[in-house]
Amino acid sequence: MNFDLDHASDHAIAKAYVAFLVAKKMNDGHAARAAFCAKENVAPKLLYANPHIAGIASLFADQTNVERVADMTVREYLRYHYYYIHQAYKYGIPEMQQTWLGHHIIKSPADCWAYQELIWRQKPDIVLELGVMFGGASVFFAHVLELIGHGEVLGVDISLKNLKHKPKKGGRITYLEGDSGSKEMLDEVARRCKGKRVLVIADSDHEKEHVLKELRLYSRFVKPGGYYVVEDTLNDLMGFHPVPNEGPLAAARQFMAENDDFEIDRRLPEKYLMSLSPDGFLRRKGGKA
Ligand SMILES: C[S@@+](CC[C@H](N)C(=O)[O-])C[C@H]1O[C@@H](n2cnc3c(N)ncnc32)[C@H](O)[C@@H]1O
Repeated sequence: MNFDLDHASDHAIAKAYVAFLVAKKMNDGHAARAAFCAKENVAPKLLYANPHIAGIASLFADQTNVERVADMTVREYLRYHYYYIHQAYKYGIPEMQQTWLGHHIIKSPADCWAYQELIWRQKPDIVLELGVMFGGASVFFAHVLELIGHGEVLGVDISLKNLKHKPKKGGRITYLEGDSGSKEMLDEVARRCKGKRVLVIADSDHEKEHVLKELRLYSRFVKPGGYYVVEDTLNDLMGFHPVPNEGPLAAARQFMAENDDFEIDRRLPEKYLMSLSPDGFLRRKGGKA
């Protein structure tokens, strides 16, 4: 690959460099950088002055375990996680994608742990997942429900073409294909959720208007004490690319300004410090704490 030095983005170069380190099983250092620059025709200054590289390189440095990560800031870690793990499938490093028992999942390990605690505590009848993509998160939720011995996953996606597994007949996962913003989908979800305790996890289209529309349509299924999670609010805060200027966080804030019956639970996602959904865990007031 030859980078156009006038237009190559820092991220494109960093992505290629991480892929190079992973493929060559090399540690970051002058030798690796020189080899990469020679191979890809990149000026060394584009690596050394690259804001992505600073934190990421420390993970690929030839140091002991704690030194590899201790100097990273939380911001650097979040940027690293977003581009090279969370979105690895999109940026050409699929071997870096987070997996759950082999299923590709687009979350963070910290949030998965928080979800496990939430599901255990709430014992929902239905985990309503808006936006399923590969289906790895549905499998994760279903496994947790299986261990608890209660509940099922209802996954909605505008297209199920990216699903990487077939849900078992009579198993805990059901998928519905269609626009979460459509009346038909709302009616079908309403039919299946009638009288049930529902945990909503919204992770579909991240444009503010769509996230807000989902909040207005699907928050009605959350009973007092239950949760509606608006995922990826961190995108707005960190300016992750490609994301809209106004995304899930802006939608969650507007919804909270319009509604008095939900409150933000900061403690649960922040317990593990690095949630991708800060101020996105919305709890309906009332019910058990
Ligand atoms: C970020 S992925 C979901 C990842 C999944 N929840 C996980 O954690 O592994 C977003 C998904 O939302 C779907 N999507 C986008 N717009 C949608 C819409 N209007 N209705 C339903 N799904 C939509 C996309 O097709 C895509 O599969």
